[in-house]
Amino acid sequence: MDLGLLKKTAIVTGGASNIGRAISLVFAREGTNIVIGDIDIPQAEKTAQEANGLKAGGKAIVVKCDVTNRDDVTAMVKKGIDEFGRVDVLVNNVGWDNMMLFTETTPEFWDKVISINYKGVLNCTRAVLDHMIENKGGAIVSISSDASRMGEFKEAVYGGVKAAVNSFMKTIAREVGRFGIRANTVCPGVTIPKEDAQIGDKSMWKQAAGLFTPDQVEKIAKVYPLRKVGRPEDIAHAVVFLASNVAAGHITGQVLSVSGGYSMVG
Ligand SMILES: NC(=O)c1ccc[n+]([C@@H]2O[C@H](COP(=O)([O-])OP(=O)(O)OC[C@H]3O[C@@H](n4cnc5c(N)ncnc54)[C@H](O)[C@@H]3O)[C@@H](O)[C@H]2O)c1
Repeated sequence: MDLGLLKKTAIVTGGASNIGRAISLVFAREGTNIVIGDIDIPQAEKTAQEANGLKAGGKAIVVKCDVTNRDDVTAMVKKGIDEFGRVDVLVNNVGWDNMMLFTETTPEFWDKVISINYKGVLNCTRAVLDHMIENKGGAIVSISSDASRMGEFKEAVYGGVKAAVNSFMKTIAREVGRFGIRANTVCPGVTIPKEDAQIGDKSMWKQAAGLFTPDQVEKIAKVYPLRKVGRPEDIAHAVVFLASNVAAGHITGQVLSVSGGYSMVG
């Protein structure tokens, strides 16, 4: 199936590592131009090099961008428009957490989680919308988490903030659908790379080194109906599907779990 993404342009925030890296590479395979907006430039350059090596018709560039900084975000969107003429897709992929009991968290930690996971989405979405409205089209996909649907242990603040992302995206879908802009959300479950090299030094998984030993992965897999943890490509395929006007042109305001059936929302 031709997804119609050849020579289109996608901004992927946090597109250097793990899930973001896979999203960048799956877009690259479709011949989509990619703007990788990340704070980890060495890892982003590595991913862009891999994407450009696929030679599928698009070009990947890297922009240093902290999604919590509005000037950075504005400059990232401008760079995408200057380089490729327009931006068709925004993937709000950046996210961060450090799992702990709510009683162990501090107000400083709450601010950090809210800022990266929620304000980052607000900043990037706001920065592309005028352009997409003017173009009368676009697709925005935000990466949330099954923690937003499950009340997950040790993810109180993160899960609450990701639920805010789900709700925000539904409102955006309602407000800008009339301009041909679609807004959807993907909720991963535990999603780990096959190789450590696929995560960057600023990845949240660096702080969780040793968390996912083969034993632990097996235990996690047992609570998933499909009996396996997610791989970054599982999420990337759903994102690229939702970004495609050909495949998902009549889908907006939806929250899709890609988690082996961990959460099932009716
Ligand atoms: N991997 C999982 O198990 C899992 C599960 C549920 C949801 N998620 C969500 O999926 C998304 C991707 O997760 P991941 O596992 O690939 O994370 P990751 O930590 O491996 O990668 C995140 C990327 O974002 C970059 N980044 C961090 N803060 C940034 C900022 N302020 N501005 C710009 N870039 C920044 C990092 O450098 C890194 O390249 C996140 O939104 C996360 O909350 C992941």
